[in-house]
Amino acid sequence: MSLIHETDHGTPPSKATTSVTLRVDGIDVTVPEGTSVMRAAMDAGIKVPKLCATDSLAAFGSCRLCLVEIEGRAGTPASCTTPVAPGMVVSTQTERLKKLRRGVMELYISDHPLDCLTCAANGDCELQDMAGAVGLREVRYGYVGENHLDAAKDESNPYFAFDPAKCIVCSRCVRACEEVQGTFALTIDGRGFESKVAAGMDQPFLDSECVSCGACVQACPTATLMEKSVIDIGQPEHSVVTTCAYCGVGCSFKAEMRGTEVVRMVPYKDGHANHGHSCVKGRFAWGYATHRERILKPMVREKISDPWREVSWAEAIGRVVSEFRRIQAQHGRGAIGGITSSRCTNEETFLIQKLVRAGFGNNNVDTCARVCHSPTGYGLKTTFGTSAGTQDFDSVEHCDVMVVIGANPTDGHPVFASRMKKRLREGAKLIVIDPRRIDMVRMPHVQASHHLPLRPGTNVAVLTALAHVIVTEGLVDEAFVRERCEPDDFAAWAAFVAEERNSPEAVAKISGVPAELIRGAARLYATGGNAAIYYGLGVTEHSQGTTAVMAIANLAMATGNIGRPGVGVNPLRGQNNVQGSCDMGSFPHEYSGYRHVSDDATRAVFETMWGVTLDHEPGLRIPNMLDAAVDGSFKGLYIQGEDIVQSDPDTQHVVAGFKAMECVVVQDLFLNETANFAHVFLPGSSFLEKDGTFTNAERRINRVRKVMPPRNGLADWEITVAIAHAMGVAGMDYTHPSQIMDEIARTTPTFTGVSYDKLDAVGSVQWPCNEAAPQGTPVMHAGGFVRGRGRFIITEYVPTDERTGPRFPLLLTSGRILSQYNVGAQTRRTANVMWHDQDLLEIHPHDAEQRGVRDGDWVRLASRVGATTLRAKVTDRVAPGVVYTTFHHPLTQTNVVTTQYSDWATDCPEYKVTAVQVTPSNGPSDWQREYRELSVQNTRIAADAAE
Ligand code: SF4
Ligand code: SF4
Ligand code: SF4
Ligand code: FES
Repeated sequence: MSLIHETDHGTPPSKATTSVTLRVDGIDVTVPEGTSVMRAAMDAGIKVPKLCATDSLAAFGSCRLCLVEIEGRAGTPASCTTPVAPGMVVSTQTERLKKLRRGVMELYISDHPLDCLTCAANGDCELQDMAGAVGLREVRYGYVGENHLDAAKDESNPYFAFDPAKCIVCSRCVRACEEVQGTFALTIDGRGFESKVAAGMDQPFLDSECVSCGACVQACPTATLMEKSVIDIGQPEHSVVTTCAYCGVGCSFKAEMRGTEVVRMVPYKDGHANHGHSCVKGRFAWGYATHRERILKPMVREKISDPWREVSWAEAIGRVVSEFRRIQAQHGRGAIGGITSSRCTNEETFLIQKLVRAGFGNNNVDTCARVCHSPTGYGLKTTFGTSAGTQDFDSVEHCDVMVVIGANPTDGHPVFASRMKKRLREGAKLIVIDPRRIDMVRMPHVQASHHLPLRPGTNVAVLTALAHVIVTEGLVDEAFVRERCEPDDFAAWAAFVAEERNSPEAVAKISGVPAELIRGAARLYATGGNAAIYYGLGVTEHSQGTTAVMAIANLAMATGNIGRPGVGVNPLRGQNNVQGSCDMGSFPHEYSGYRHVSDDATRAVFETMWGVTLDHEPGLRIPNMLDAAVDGSFKGLYIQGEDIVQSDPDTQHVVAGFKAMECVVVQDLFLNETANFAHVFLPGSSFLEKDGTFTNAERRINRVRKVMPPRNGLADWEITVAIAHAMGVAGMDYTHPSQIMDEIARTTPTFTGVSYDKLDAVGSVQWPCNEAAPQGTPVMHAGGFVRGRGRFIITEYVPTDERTGPRFPLLLTSGRILSQYNVGAQTRRTANVMWHDQDLLEIHPHDAEQRGVRDGDWVRLASRVGATTLRAKVTDRVAPGVVYTTFHHPLTQTNVVTTQYSDWATDCPEYKVTAVQVTPSNGPSDWQREYRELSVQNTRIAADAAE
């Protein structure tokens, strides 16, 4: 194994389709028109020395190292900023050029510390490389002149250091922050010799607008901006390409290693989802994998009040199997079930549902997608015929109008947000539909044309009002509808949306959004060119989540915005493998590929493959399992990689369900909240310790590759296989996850062309990947909908039963923040806590003043099901009457207050609408103090285990 060095072509590729032929150093080369001379030379195998150029950034032309001579032209132009021309004859290595370049390098080196041997970048420094490339042998100016060598270091950021003494002011960092990340946190301050890189108003990085994406660190050609892990550990010596385990963007990374230690994670330029960019989580927040609180030995206990006892794997697995079999003998085959996780690989989730269906003998398997994107599955399958987003991420480059509804991409999907912001800076228009003024409403060089700050719970009314405008103002794409959609359904839908009660004027009273805003947004969406809708959990986690998804699909069909690049319906998936866990048959009513368990032909495929008779009745969903546990009919649960107690709504009900079970098996990295109610704890493995695949929000199947052995001894898939073997389930003799993928491909029509060999060869593919589409499908529904004709669905607005009133007059909605991830089990165990060490309650100044609450005060947040305390953040990002918080910290247990109301079709909880009251408080409540004690105890157990 060796380090993967990706070629830097110096300038970005040209997208032109016409070609130009030129001659560089006697070699003829043909390149797309608009290519730089520098890139053309690289194509001819000639590396022109460079410092300020890199192929992720537009050419800048400041360092003057890349000079060339061109026949018939005066002077020595910079090859990075000079475009090719037909018949051009270029020389890159003349005596004049060599002399000029050496002169440039002498100037740089005369103001640079001569500490190469002890510098962290030694061996990975472009300045050092260029000194060699130009044949620098002396510095005639000496080193005693005026210089910057005493400039103070900035080590405020937990992950990277800034040492301005080493800066050559090439401005690659500034441009990376602007062009790639879109944050504009850096600037070049001063002029001439005084020029220097500054974060914001010359603040420490940590206090600036910087979001720690690391793009500047990656772009820096010297050791000025450098990962602290490289400074601590040293230069890596081999790399493995793998996939981030945080969000649904699915960024590819090179894990750069020394032995089995990760030195740094470098976003992979060949990663089709991220093209070499990342956010703070993927690039820096991987330290949880070796955190001292990780549990590495299996543990059991008789009762949840007993202390844990470390046991062998054999004893732990034996306990699981004997207890599950005992429960089934006493309470029936349906008294146990399993929950898969969207944090785990496709192969692992496929195995869990196989274990449940073939080993437990029922269909009681569900996934955490139940509580996030199950309405997407139902809604898009009903309207389009398949349960997935329609586009690839690259599609955004062709988009003219973006609608962002119920999503906060800069926090939840930051790398894709950077792509969106880039397109918006190029001129695309933005419509934001969200109760809160998310960052994208207004940020540097991005401003939404329309922000519809709707009242939580009124998505369906507003989406239908948008449709009303499109239909009544004659903005329907008649040809598309006629050719591609069911005519009767369209006619019924058009008549419905045209009713006066669905007009913007009527809906304004319900939603609080002025009618003119709705009308303007609808006109822009329908007439602004290619229009794409991007949505998140602010759409799905409602009592009408599925209806809202179908309303979005209706809008796309009515305006013909489906089936080509730049348009479409794009759910932004929360966790890394939400799409995959759904694809793999984790729902109780569906096998992999979304085929119903009652379908005889599908069942026959699995019965033949697995050698068992399978149940044709759908099993229990997560809420049904918990209800059945409280009722006494459900007694045993195997949970892989989920923290139901913290993540699911109405915590008290969830806890009651767990307390009523006789055998709860938790497989996780840490003793999470759910483990407090477990009888068996099986230590899980991190994404760095196993092979597999994740499927991102664009249906892209990416490889996850093992970079170190499992610290707990077994990868997660091996644990499930061990349980299956002990239960006597046949057909579980896998020796590598590639064999599990082969089984998925054999049994799942949309995956028949997928194999590890193919993924290794092409990097990644988007399903469907089969005989009809051997290289995958970037854009779905191109020639026709998967279901045949698109189906319009009537989307009657039904207000949620969760109502405000005198006792609970405010509406709580929730979301997440950039630096933390879901229940925080991983990110809370990294330096990311620096940015967010507690959940805060955002409250409008008017509501705060009415309650005597000031910024930073402790407040009690109460709903009809429970209460918690947290600190207030007084801000007008939320409208009066609305409060907002995150759910990253178990000490808050935000879900103590959320209710059991859920989506009518899928039971997805209505997290986004809870009637609450906020009152001043003196500090943490009693249960929070008790929790803190328990947490300290758990830390001690883990620390003891680690020692
Ligand atoms: S880490 Fe990212 S956001 Fe921060 S300065 Fe660098 S490029 Fe900008
Ligand atoms: S910090 Fe690095 S990238 Fe930025 S100007 Fe200095 S040398 Fe160039
Ligand atoms: S955007 Fe998502 S997938 Fe990419 S690095 Fe960040 S958390 Fe990981
Ligand atoms: S690389 Fe062309 S001017 Fe710097």
